[in-house]
Amino acid sequence: MLIKHHALFETNVLLLVLGIFLTIIVGGLVEIVPLFTIESTIEKVQGMRPYSPLELVGRNIYIREGCYVCHSQMIRPFRDEVERYGHYSLAAESQYDHPFQWGSKRNGPDLARVGGKYSDDWHVAHMKNPRSVVPESIMPGYPHLARHELNQPDIAEHLKTLRIVGVPYTDDDIKNAAADLKAQATPDANTKDLMARYPKAHIGGSGVIPGKITELDALIAYLQVVGTMVDFTNFDPKTIER
Ligand code: HEC
Repeated sequence: MLIKHHALFETNVLLLVLGIFLTIIVGGLVEIVPLFTIESTIEKVQGMRPYSPLELVGRNIYIREGCYVCHSQMIRPFRDEVERYGHYSLAAESQYDHPFQWGSKRNGPDLARVGGKYSDDWHVAHMKNPRSVVPESIMPGYPHLARHELNQPDIAEHLKTLRIVGVPYTDDDIKNAAADLKAQATPDANTKDLMARYPKAHIGGSGVIPGKITELDALIAYLQVVGTMVDFTNFDPKTIER
């Protein structure tokens, strides 16, 4: 009906402004009001869990070292991206990330599904000197991570703090944080409780300093779990439009 009278709006500035205003109000209400009636805008996805203490520390090292300056963690739903990296990133996959690591800068490849792609040994070699495994690499080496023993006396407090912003760590998770951190980096430790709390946690330890946990161990535990919590084994990239 209004379409027929568009000349009226286009020749009267006041009416036009009023019309625009009305359209934005109606559009805004339709878009925004329903959001107040739902608890979360993030669709729940099976498999997602908070980071284990060792993964969390690894993630902090990832942020401290500025890895995000060259690496994004956000696979977009386009054919070229899913063919190269795997299933596109879901909102739920970064719901426990504070802050998230999406980014848009890709001097290096996206890392959203790097977990399980390489062995721990590959990561050790690559982090110490990327050119030892990828000769043309322009990534800087981080050999100091292999020399620094992990010092994390406040890990339980860290979990507690994340709980304040909504990460569902239980009292049990917090109580066992220090023990879980140690167990995950110790290949022959009893990891039954750890695995029950944090399914798919990557047990390992680079062994770069025998008997000690290094910053590199934490970083690798993190890299090995990124993008692996949700099961995408039946995903076919050809179902995504070009
Ligand atoms: C100056 C940019 C730059 C920075 C900073 C950087 N990287 Fe890289 N990264 C690259 C490039 C380029 C590649 C591709 C060549 C290679 O594999 O080394 C790469 C590759 C990788 C890969 C292999 C990815 C794959 O799918 O093959 C991993 C894992 C990785 N980087 C982790 C890290 C981590 C962890 C940090 C921080 C400690 C970091 N990078 C910092 C540039 C960077």
